[in-house]
Amino acid sequence: MGGTSSEREVSLASGANVAKALESLGKFEVLPTILDSDSIDALPENVDAAYIALHGGWGENGGVQSALDAAGIPYTGPGAAASRIAMDKIETKRILDSAGVPTPPWRTVAIGEKPALPPDEALPCVVKAPRDGSSVGVHLVNTSAEFIPALEDCLRIDGREALVEAYIPGRETTVGIIAGEPLPAIEIIAKGGWYGYEEKYNSSETAYPFLADSADPADKALEKRLKEIAAEAWRAIGCRGVARVDFRVAPDGSPFVLELNTSPGFTSHSLVPKAGICTGLTFAGVCERILAEAAFDRR
Ligand SMILES: Nc1ncnc2c1ncn2[C@@H]1O[C@H](COP(=O)(O)OP(=O)(O)O)[C@@H](O)[C@H]1O
Ligand SMILES: [Mg+2]
Repeated sequence: MGGTSSEREVSLASGANVAKALESLGKFEVLPTILDSDSIDALPENVDAAYIALHGGWGENGGVQSALDAAGIPYTGPGAAASRIAMDKIETKRILDSAGVPTPPWRTVAIGEKPALPPDEALPCVVKAPRDGSSVGVHLVNTSAEFIPALEDCLRIDGREALVEAYIPGRETTVGIIAGEPLPAIEIIAKGGWYGYEEKYNSSETAYPFLADSADPADKALEKRLKEIAAEAWRAIGCRGVARVDFRVAPDGSPFVLELNTSPGFTSHSLVPKAGICTGLTFAGVCERILAEAAFDRR
């Protein structure tokens, strides 16, 4: 837990929760380990497995996964290659497109390129820094005057390129997957319709109902579809262990994958544990299930 990314504080909360939960099972000797640099030097010797509760940066982009592969230590969540792809929204969208998994229409703008302003019919659009998380560097662009400043911000963050994506109005949902099995879909109802950094971490006004509890009978079919697409995205990226697939659902009911998170949050209000608990597991049971999938890639 911990790490050097902007999500360090969230990771410390996730890590403390997971450690306490695994400890409570009475089956494991848990050694909570805080990383303060991009290395596994702080990891105790002779551990049987590493439970990764790092979010963002080196802890989620394949960095720590490669280091653990090299050390021959099994770890939770997807391997280094899938982690690297999922952390890169552009790489992810290339793969989703070629696998026929629906994702919002997109283009990239490279640094130094003189971008054409989006035509009015292409607005609103969303401009993103492609290799960041937690809604850092995600801009909703409503007018062409907002386009260049948003682009400049994303290019400054990324240093290489920005992702320009069609804005999908409608609803937001997420599907956690553990060991290839999709968990119940959760809808995210943010006040104002935008699930940015504030809404994720600082707002008590975001609601997270299970789609299965919806009064609308059409949501049964939607949930089935979301689980199918989430599993397709999981396979296309080559995930294992755990991941969370984030969606927008257009007003006509068509789902679009926004991104995959390969080290989803495990704080008390995080959505993968909430969905796991809905299937009858305890929080600790969810962690144990994820730990049981721990593996490393030989090289
Ligand atoms: N194409 C889009 N259409 C509508 N809303 C979007 C779109 N892309 C992002 N958003 C909003 O911004 C949030 C964060 O975007 P996301 O791509 O998931 O990046 P992050 O890695 O920061 O979570 C989403 O949860 C959603 O509310
Ligand atoms: Mg997201």
